[in-house]
Amino acid sequence: MLRSKVDVMLGLQWGDEGKGKIVDVFTPHYDIIARFQGGPNAGHTIIFDGRKFVLHTIPSGIFHRQTMNVIGNGVIIDPFILFKEIDKLRDSGMEPEANLLVSSRAHLILPTHRLLDAALESEKGASKIGSTLKGIGPAYTDKYGRNGLRAGNITGQSFRLHYENLKSEHLETVRQLGFDYSSYLLDGMNFTAYEEKWIESIERMKGLTIIDSEIYLNKSLDEGKRILAEGAQGTMLDVDFGSYPFVTSSNTITAGVCSGLGISPHRIGKIYGIFKAYCTRVGSGPFPTELNDPDGERLRVGGNEFGSTTGRPRRCGWLDLPALKYSIMLNGIDSLIMMKADVLNPFPEIKICTDYQKNNEILSGFPFDLSGSAFQPVYKQMTGWNTSLEGCTTADEIPVDLSEYIKFIEKETGLPIDILSIGPDRLQTLQR
Ligand code: GDP
Ligand code: IMO
Ligand code: MG
Repeated sequence: MLRSKVDVMLGLQWGDEGKGKIVDVFTPHYDIIARFQGGPNAGHTIIFDGRKFVLHTIPSGIFHRQTMNVIGNGVIIDPFILFKEIDKLRDSGMEPEANLLVSSRAHLILPTHRLLDAALESEKGASKIGSTLKGIGPAYTDKYGRNGLRAGNITGQSFRLHYENLKSEHLETVRQLGFDYSSYLLDGMNFTAYEEKWIESIERMKGLTIIDSEIYLNKSLDEGKRILAEGAQGTMLDVDFGSYPFVTSSNTITAGVCSGLGISPHRIGKIYGIFKAYCTRVGSGPFPTELNDPDGERLRVGGNEFGSTTGRPRRCGWLDLPALKYSIMLNGIDSLIMMKADVLNPFPEIKICTDYQKNNEILSGFPFDLSGSAFQPVYKQMTGWNTSLEGCTTADEIPVDLSEYIKFIEKETGLPIDILSIGPDRLQTLQR
């Protein structure tokens, strides 16, 4: 028996590292790309041939016809958003349903999960999480509370009854929270109009290939097929190890691949960790190296740091090595991929946070509390390359100061940076 393994590609920071771009670049080397957690809170951007696509639920291998794309059991699906994505791809001349499989065990996000998300956030006031308001927290709550509806339920006789019961419960909670949803818009629609579209999407879902993906994936491994697991969000948003409670509601780390796809830890192969040459975060929560100054603004504008899902401006700051090392440890990273080096081009000087300190003492380990008063970041200043990378077509051509920046990160993390991204296009990717 051939028995191959599942490689993993996931984010090491607060999301938006560039996972979509790199999964798309890697796809020709894989037979199957599988999402294992998260839902339409994700926004994965892929740019090629002058065209730009943003995927929320569909894996980023969809642009390669010969590769199968699996929405795994750990993912939560909003059928309306899924079909919006499918229709957009169809409008561009693709047939995404042809190479898309959906796990029967993937849970559904109901319209009322989205109302609950909005109600819970508005109740939190100033301490809100800054959720994407896609219903992620409430849908995972129902999953773990053992109340959820799954993709495999949509053809069942009791689906509608189960749906109506959940909806009534959710609306009761929304009312108790004092949230007036009559004027709240879901994708530009009031609740009733959105619910109608959602139910239409459930009908359309019956035309998709819904399978027991854990069996399909394990069988594919037995046949020697190559599988890449695509992470969503990032390690610092992991529900267990991220900056809790300012996190998402799933395990974004390598361990999530096993539960989110039904894969044994024995069958995990190479683990790629992806990070930006600096840091960003969207939504609330601690961010030790955040820059609330012209440098932060320069990163935001230069890096086009506006959310792919919500359009919100992303908070920006210098690279945070303590957080990166913590993420590397949690995930068991084998190989690093550094993104968006080009965004640092205009900086004559670049800072890297090497440690956190409190009362002039360097903290060992990684702090439980990441908020501002707990410690201060210690920075090392490096000389910027201060030049365009546009002419660089191989890693040998990059400026010396960028090489020094890379070498420093490699020395600190003890891992190779095997791929360097110097622009959003597929082609702006250098192998080292
Ligand atoms: P993901 O969620 O991890 O897939 O990342 P997003 O798509 O949300 O955000 C990454 C953004 O950076 C997208 O707008 C990409 O087009 C863009 N991007 C990716 N790699 C690079 C790069 O090397 N340089 C620049 N300038 N932009 C990049
Ligand atoms: P990708 O896959 C960046 C953030 C939200 C919020 C917190 C909780 O594109 O990297 P949620 O909607 O899950 O309740 O939001 O997590 N967040 C992301 N930030 N990239 C993402 O996904 C994110 N998905 C969620 O901004 O702070
Ligand atoms: Mg994103």
